[in-house]
Amino acid sequence: MARVNDNYLKLKAGYLFPEIGRRVKAFTEANPSAKVIRLGIGDVTEPLPPAIVEAMHKAVDELAKRESFKGYGPEQGYDFLREAIAKNDFQARGCDISADEVFVSDGSKCDTGNILDIFGLDNKVAVQDPVYPVYVDTNVMSGRTGEADGSGRYAGLVYLPCTAENNFSPSLPTEKVDLIYLCSPNNPTGATLNKETLVKWVDFAKKNDAIILYDAAYEAYITDNSLPHSIYEIPGARECAIEFRSFSKNAGFTGTRCAYTVVPKTLTGTTSSGERREIYPLWMRRHTTKFNGVSYPVQVGAAAAYSPAGKEQIAKLVGFYLENARLLREGLQAAGLTVFGGVNAPYIWIKTPGGQTSWEFFDTLLSKAHLVGTPGSGFGSCGEGYFRLSAFNSRANIEEALSRATKLLK
Ligand code: MLT
Repeated sequence: MARVNDNYLKLKAGYLFPEIGRRVKAFTEANPSAKVIRLGIGDVTEPLPPAIVEAMHKAVDELAKRESFKGYGPEQGYDFLREAIAKNDFQARGCDISADEVFVSDGSKCDTGNILDIFGLDNKVAVQDPVYPVYVDTNVMSGRTGEADGSGRYAGLVYLPCTAENNFSPSLPTEKVDLIYLCSPNNPTGATLNKETLVKWVDFAKKNDAIILYDAAYEAYITDNSLPHSIYEIPGARECAIEFRSFSKNAGFTGTRCAYTVVPKTLTGTTSSGERREIYPLWMRRHTTKFNGVSYPVQVGAAAAYSPAGKEQIAKLVGFYLENARLLREGLQAAGLTVFGGVNAPYIWIKTPGGQTSWEFFDTLLSKAHLVGTPGSGFGSCGEGYFRLSAFNSRANIEEALSRATKLLK
């Protein structure tokens, strides 16, 4: 008889975003005339930048001719894209990362889950709380946790609280951990880790032989020049960190799909018998065995993000969403809410008013103002009493959402 993976049965009812989708669907079916504005899932709304679209069109035309047709590409990504990434995103910022340490993929969500394939089940895993649910759920699926308790915390994981009291910056773990997920700019809180803090994490990881899984998918939203864009700006990070980056939130690739993961050749871990081994060949083996590469037109489009026109258009796009974030942040503050984030990040993290739980505030906003956000408790128990709004939307929708929220909060 075929046996299922029991670990899946430990997962809470549904992935957060489908659960929100279910509730919104039920509401819109019962209220068909309601004009619902969705500030829940962090999905971009503005079209792809013209320089990228133009490059993609040309790439499709190449595929239409026998002489320039392409079949399978290298699983790790075409050299033209890996080189553009290494040069622009790392070497230009003084980071010692080479093109062959860059693995192009179809998304950071996939990569942050897939990376677990190359790590033993006995690793102790630390996550921030609140946390991007994918880090937790993929560890549950692979069997690194026990059951969830009443507050939704899984046995075996180390949770690092991030609340207003610690400025949403986690303290170093007080117990031995092996894998540490850090996300900066943070999803969901919008908080960023400064250089001094990242130095502490890198030192901790090196001292404890741990590996940091650094998610920098929102790096493009950093406007404060003193903040690090990559963990490799910190000395020693090549020996203790893997970094995840994406074209989704800067260049609008949420539907197109392109991202990358950096695995330095100097990163090592130990085998169960205590032998030290390089991580790089393991990820190379995993990636080339289970993945066949991102499509050629998409990689050509991603490379165009680094052209002078592409860079300028992306800066404008990011600036547009950041202005949305500013409008939301300042507008909601003026309406009396306590608001965090939204400065170097596209997410606004709100303290729910009147002591409402996160899901109560979700229901209030949906039923009274026809607005959708994401309940903070969906990101972890420390997110209870908070609520996330995404700045990814049209300006008209942001303004309308703000006006409805202000009316409701009066
Ligand atoms: C979110 O809303 O948290 C994002 O859509 C997450 C993601 O990019 O997968």
